[in-house]
Amino acid sequence: MIAETLSLAGEKIKLRPFTLEDAPRVQDLVSNWNVASMVARIPHPYPDGGAEEWISGHRERRAAGEDWPFAIEVGDKLVGAVGLSRTESGPFEIGYWIGEPYWGKGIASEAARVLVEFAFDILGLDHLVSGHFKDNPASGRVLIKVGFLRSGEEKRFCLARGEEIDCITLKLTAEKVTR
Ligand SMILES: CC(C)(COP(=O)(O)OP(=O)(O)OC[C@H]1O[C@@H](n2cnc3c(N)ncnc32)[C@H](O)[C@@H]1OP(=O)(O)O)[C@@H](O)C(=O)NCCC(=O)NCCS
Repeated sequence: MIAETLSLAGEKIKLRPFTLEDAPRVQDLVSNWNVASMVARIPHPYPDGGAEEWISGHRERRAAGEDWPFAIEVGDKLVGAVGLSRTESGPFEIGYWIGEPYWGKGIASEAARVLVEFAFDILGLDHLVSGHFKDNPASGRVLIKVGFLRSGEEKRFCLARGEEIDCITLKLTAEKVTR
């Protein structure tokens, strides 16, 4: 049984569970077209109370073994989110967003590496999947650097854009992780 309060440490980041106190900060960081338009499930405009509702569901989904969402902290400041979610077809998918003021500092790359190690070393998973919109090469780079390999292409609905967007899908097996 993995503790609900489990935190994970990288070199310059910490991953910890969200609390409701994080809601205003999350609300602020995701109410940004440049973030919402690059992920599948963040609406834009972001509704009032959206972050609180999202965080409120974490405990139950974590307890059910469906989701492992973590807040990314740098120097005690919440800068983004990274997590694993079970897909309908079975494998866990890694997803993340970083608040725009913090882009380009290696934060997503480090968060992805820490979460991938958690997935394989602690959860004992044998593979992970992920995907990024074709017009989001920075996210592709984050995934490739940790060892993900391209597995195909598909269309994915983007809530913020309100349409299906071309998406590159990737897969990572435990032995391919770049540590
Ligand atoms: C994509 C995102 C997570 C990247 O976060 P970040 O903390 O800035 O990422 P990092 O700094 O760790 O690494 C970004 C990498 O992409 C590269 N990159 C940045 N812009 C790029 C571009 N236009 N084309 C190709 N590579 C690019 C960077 O050079 C870096 O690679 P490097 O370390 O080899 O130099 C962040 O921009 C974000 O949250 N965007 C909105 C939400 C999102 O896209 N989530 C992912 C959905 S799949």
